[in-house]
Amino acid sequence: MGVRRSMISGCAAVVLALGTAAGVQAQAPRVVAITGTDAMKYSVTAIEAKPGEKLTVKLTGQGSIPKVAMAHNFVLLALKADAAAFSTAAASARATDFVPDALKAQVLASTKLAGMGETVEVTFDAPKEPGVYTFICTFPGHFLAGMKGTLTVK
Ligand code: CU
Repeated sequence: MGVRRSMISGCAAVVLALGTAAGVQAQAPRVVAITGTDAMKYSVTAIEAKPGEKLTVKLTGQGSIPKVAMAHNFVLLALKADAAAFSTAAASARATDFVPDALKAQVLASTKLAGMGETVEVTFDAPKEPGVYTFICTFPGHFLAGMKGTLTVK
């Protein structure tokens, strides 16, 4: 009886150990905090990540201009996407927070719009394919004003 009980608790220990190992694999995302300003710039323009690394991008709007005229988002584009063309198409997609439905296939990750004092975030896995990926703010005019950055996967 005593032997059987210890075998059972031994099995429970194995199950617990497996559970812990699985927990380690589902790592917490690394948080990248960025602010977007009235000057239409990101505070962080270069992010590096390992292939498949889980990231959370938190974007905070900082400034004094009302959201309707000044808001920011974070849109990570696929390697072959044309950022300028995407930005142009996005300008007329206000109904979908300036992320055009027709070009969704080019979007790897995107946040909603952050007005002043607001924070938006998105959690995603960095691409598995090494390369330099572009992220942009698709609020009209912001990409042309230089609101862009790169996510380098290596
Ligand atoms: Cu912006």
